[in-house]
Amino acid sequence: MMTNKKVVLGITGGIAAYKAAELVRLLVKAGVDVQVVMTEAACQFITPVTMQALSGKPVFTGMWDSSIANGMPHIELSRQADAILIAPASADFLAKLVHGRADDLLSTLCLARDCPLLVAPAMNKQMWENPATQRNIAQLIDDGITILGPDSGEQACGEIGLGRMLEAEQLLAELNAFFTPKLLSGKRLLITAGATLEMIDPVRAITNLSSGKMGYALAKVAVDMGATVTLISGATSINPPPNVFNIIATSADNMYQAVMKNIAMQDIFIGVAAVADYAPIETSTKKIKKSEHSLTLHLTKTKDILADVASLPNPPFCVGFAAESEDLIEYASQKRIAKKLPLIIANEAISALGNDDNQVTLIDENGTHALSRAPKTEVAQLILTHIASMHISRLS
Ligand code: CTP
Repeated sequence: MMTNKKVVLGITGGIAAYKAAELVRLLVKAGVDVQVVMTEAACQFITPVTMQALSGKPVFTGMWDSSIANGMPHIELSRQADAILIAPASADFLAKLVHGRADDLLSTLCLARDCPLLVAPAMNKQMWENPATQRNIAQLIDDGITILGPDSGEQACGEIGLGRMLEAEQLLAELNAFFTPKLLSGKRLLITAGATLEMIDPVRAITNLSSGKMGYALAKVAVDMGATVTLISGATSINPPPNVFNIIATSADNMYQAVMKNIAMQDIFIGVAAVADYAPIETSTKKIKKSEHSLTLHLTKTKDILADVASLPNPPFCVGFAAESEDLIEYASQKRIAKKLPLIIANEAISALGNDDNQVTLIDENGTHALSRAPKTEVAQLILTHIASMHISRLS
C-alpha cells in the first residue's frame, strides 16, 4: 500500500529520535519516498547525516535552504507529500501544532500542509499525563490529526508509564493501515484461522500443520480496510492482530459453536481454519498407556462449519480456502460448488503451511485468477480487494 507514497518524516527533539533511523530504513524498504525534516533540537539527538544516508536524500533542517528553487521549502515539501509523519513528536511540538505556531521549518510546513498529518508522541509519562498535553491531544484529534500511540513501558528517564514512542515496526504498520483504501468500511467480517486440536487424551491430539498466519493476515488487513473483525482462532502460536475481537476455539466442535454464535449480522465469512474432518468419539480422561499391540482410535466426522454457514437462510458472503496436495484447481472448484460458495481460494498445501508467503488462485463463477507468490499480508490485500468488489457488486 505504501509503494511510491511520498512521506515527509518530521523528527523533533527527544531521545526516541534514535527510533526514527530504523523507521526511515523500514519505510525506504517498503518503497516509500521519504523526505526527512529535522528540528534544531532533533539534531542534538541524531545527526542529519545518518538520516541522509538512510533516506538517500538531503535532510532539511532550516527555513532558509537555498536548494529549493523557489526558496520556500515549507510550501514545496508538503505539496509533494501524501502524508506528513512526525516521529517523535515532543510535547512542545504538539503544543505548537495546536496553536498554529510557525517558527521553524517543520512547524511551518505542518501549518502550510495540504495533506494528512500523523503524529507519534514521545515524552516522559508526567508530561504525557499533564492536563495541558491531554488538552492539546484532544484538540489535535478534533483538528483531524491522527495520533499514533504512545505506548506504555520503561522510559529513558527510568520511570514506567505511558509516553514511549511506538516502535518503528508499529509505526510502519500504522502508516500502511492509514494508506490502505477503506474498501470494507462498515462491513462485519468473521474469520476462522489456525488448526484445530482434537484431543485423544489429556496430552495427545489430532491436529495439522496450519500456522494461522494466512487467517491472521486477512484479519489484520480487513481491519486496515475499515472492517469490524471477529477472529475465531484455533491452535496457533502467533499473536492475534490488534483491534480484532479474538475468540479462542481449539476443537472443531468448539469452533463450530463459536462461529454459529457469532454469525448473525456478519456481512462476510472467511473460513481459513484447517478444521479437522474427524475427531475421536471419546477423549480419554487419563493418559492412554502404551500396550504391546496396535492402538485403534474411533473417530467421528466433524460438522462442516463453512458448508453449514453457506446453507443458512440468509448467509453472509462466504469464502473458503482449499489447501490441496494435487489437482488443486479441480478439487478447489468442486469444493466451491459443493459448499455453495461464491469464492474459494486454492493453495498448494505443502508450500503454504507455516510459511510467511503464499501463492493462491482465486476461483469464482467467472473462472480462475492466479496471484503471484507474495508475503501473506500482500496476498490478503489482494484477496480482500477481490472480496470487497464481489460483495459490493452482489449488493447493487
Ligand atoms: N471447513 C470447515 N469445517 C470443516 C472442514 C472444512 O469450515 N469441518 C472449511 C475450511 O475452513 C476451508 C474449507 O472448508 O475453508 C475447505 O476445507 P478443506 O479441509 O480443504 O476441505 P474439506 O471439505 O475438509 O475436504 P477434504 O479435507 O476432503 O479436502
